[in-house]
Amino acid sequence: MASGSGSNFEALVGACRNGPLAATVCQLVVNNPGCGAAQRAERLGVPCTIHDHRLFNSREALDQALIASFQAANVDLVVMAGWMRIVTQALIDAYPQRLVNIHPSLLPSFRGARAIEQALAAGVQLSGCTAHLVSLEVDTGPILVQAAVPVLASDTADSLAARIHAQEHRILPLAVQLAAERLELLYG
Ligand code: GRF
Repeated sequence: MASGSGSNFEALVGACRNGPLAATVCQLVVNNPGCGAAQRAERLGVPCTIHDHRLFNSREALDQALIASFQAANVDLVVMAGWMRIVTQALIDAYPQRLVNIHPSLLPSFRGARAIEQALAAGVQLSGCTAHLVSLEVDTGPILVQAAVPVLASDTADSLAARIHAQEHRILPLAVQLAAERLELLYG
């Protein structure tokens, strides 16, 4: 699931195709037609489905359409790789323990859409990213992997975002691996 540039999506595809992740990215869903993620999917040959949130009456209706897409593609695990919509319990219940999100802060600090700006405004000297299982409240849920990066006095939102992004691309495949191993332990 992606809304924007899709660099995390591409990192996941790369981790599957070139190792170390023994998985297949079988489908991308986007909510913004023509977004960078959709363009990357085309280049990478990954099927892409558009569910434009503007065409749905409610968050729940959008999530039901997503679930139908995932079921049709027979997916085992769903990754919110820069999905800038609030998800509902319907999606969480459809993929229990199988819905992973990536967020550009060291959760539980700086939840929400402007995490990087919040970190800079707070003056923290350490920030980073978190991959976690999704609970209903935005940017909460059991943490799978975190990576920390320094915040430099000279940082802008762009420079800090670039440093965090590099770590996201490293930890997201690892988080998918851990989520899968956790499922194996829990359910066999
Ligand atoms: C990432 O920073 C992710 O943490 C946040 O949205 C951004 C997506 O970036 N949820 P990209 O589209 O994967 O490049």
